[in-house]
Amino acid sequence: MCGIVGYIGNKKATPILINGLLSLEYRGYDSAGIAVIENNEICVLKDKGRVANLRKIPEIDTLESSIGIAHTRWATHGKPSKENSHPHLDNSKQFAVVHNGIIENYNELKEFLCSKGYKFLSQTDTEVIPNLIHYYYTNGISDDDKFLRAVKSAIDDLKGSYAIEVISNLYPDRVIVVRKDSPLVIGTSKEENFISSDIPAILSYTKNFYLLDDYEYAVVYNDHIQFFDNSLIEHSKAIKSIEWDATAAEKNGYEDYMLKEIYEQPNSIRETIGTRFKLGEKCCFDDIDINKEYLKTVNKIYIVACGTAMHAGLVGKVAIEKLCNIPTGVDIASEFRYRNPIIDENTLCIFISQSGETADTIAALKLAKEKKAKTIAISNVIGSSITRVADYTIYTHAGPEIAVASTKAYTSQIILLVILAMYFAENLESCKKDVLDNLKVDILDLPSKIEAVLNEINGIKEFANKIYTEKDMYFLGRGNDYYVAMEGSLKLKEISYIHSEAYASGELKHGPIALIENDVTVIGILTDSNLVDKSISNIQEVVSRGAKTLVITNQRLTNNNFDFIINVPETNNLISPVLSVIPLQLLAYYISKNKGLDVDKPRNLAKSVTVE
Ligand code: M6R
Repeated sequence: MCGIVGYIGNKKATPILINGLLSLEYRGYDSAGIAVIENNEICVLKDKGRVANLRKIPEIDTLESSIGIAHTRWATHGKPSKENSHPHLDNSKQFAVVHNGIIENYNELKEFLCSKGYKFLSQTDTEVIPNLIHYYYTNGISDDDKFLRAVKSAIDDLKGSYAIEVISNLYPDRVIVVRKDSPLVIGTSKEENFISSDIPAILSYTKNFYLLDDYEYAVVYNDHIQFFDNSLIEHSKAIKSIEWDATAAEKNGYEDYMLKEIYEQPNSIRETIGTRFKLGEKCCFDDIDINKEYLKTVNKIYIVACGTAMHAGLVGKVAIEKLCNIPTGVDIASEFRYRNPIIDENTLCIFISQSGETADTIAALKLAKEKKAKTIAISNVIGSSITRVADYTIYTHAGPEIAVASTKAYTSQIILLVILAMYFAENLESCKKDVLDNLKVDILDLPSKIEAVLNEINGIKEFANKIYTEKDMYFLGRGNDYYVAMEGSLKLKEISYIHSEAYASGELKHGPIALIENDVTVIGILTDSNLVDKSISNIQEVVSRGAKTLVITNQRLTNNNFDFIINVPETNNLISPVLSVIPLQLLAYYISKNKGLDVDKPRNLAKSVTVE
């Protein structure tokens, strides 16, 4: 949540800051602002609303400064308003701060500062930070590195999470940054340095990055950067070169990122498969040191994640249990971290996070490590926070996912989990070779089958036209189809704001069927040949009660009275969600478009949930 950008170099800062904010807007879009040092004073321009509003402020084009910090906000403390927008200044207007995260003890700090005569102009937690810096700067800090020491003293008082940038007109040649539990990267180039919440936002300027660690400080000048640990002892830091293509994070002619990302799925799945297996060969994970001896000791696996990533985990659980015969539980990270899960050195924990920055997932991972479990992170973002905490990381390689609604990351997460399950099974010899060989053939066939689904979208568009004004919808399925129903329902509510629920078909009679009345829309997913007859009976029960039905299936359905049927190609049931979810992604997309909504930036949501 919230995106921060910074620049110091030999060019005008404002256009670079604005470009960065536009790329980071998916992280929060309640308000946006910048601070630069102009004629020895800090100049702050900010406003409620999108970055587009900020651009309309007339003074923005007059700024000449080549140092600045910027912020796009997802409100936590204080409603979206100009006053609550970042950057925030201290009372003397000598220090400007942007902040991503939450300061949990800000009330206490505010009381302290008020008792010292400081005034507050906003309802934010952030405003305590510039004032604390000013307080320490003017109260007893020695002259050596006074700016850095004042920042460090202020940071020492904070409880919570933060990625922070600070500038001061007293030190117009540097930006100080520090982070804890919120992402921050520094891109470096000749005579200019860039700061950002994520790599893609500044990838068009440089491919060389420093990934800041928790409690690590950087003092960024135009031609060099100093790094300090939490005791302010200077150290050197290695550059990480990123090979991503900057154009991968652009729309390439698609109306929205979400549509582009849906259409990228044949390729993202190819990238996820990568070199992890070939036909006739065993699966290979060079990135993890997990061997047969260790796997034999594992008596339980937990898969932990949030939202869509958790839905991918549910599909992964089915594959691991079936192929490896290891009991596997799936937990929502925010529940897992507080429920005192039973974990020991015989537990393997897998954490899935597209962004690698989700606060609850990272906290759950830290808990599992404390309890001595071995941990694997599955992430899409190279060098993201989760990858630096887990024992091992496996990347999905789905390419940058910009739309808030996750699509290609979900299908890549599923495929990665299934390949991981095959790898475990091969090590454990827990599954017949021909079963795994057939599954490999089916996985390799997926990209062309996805293309086939994407070439037949008229039915989905037609159904979206028919139902986009509905208030409620229900999704039904059994087994993996239930998990796809959950994902379809989440996609719909996220971007169309239509209330929807997913139910396991067998649960219908235990309550939800009371909601079914004439003309209500029910979407059934039927891809498991073993369960199809039972699922058909459940959908017939809603048809009898007047429901309008869309069925997504890879089965030949005869003698049915469903209103719409979307066929998807047949495949192994362990991976069928990768095909059956695509019509649901498109359905949510076209309903949202029909309603004239902002598909990529749905209200109240942010791509990266870096606060609890
Ligand atoms: O980056 P993560 O995978 O950790 O994000 C988890 C969820 O916040 C995310 O999947 C969310 O549910 C998406 N907006 C779903 O489309």
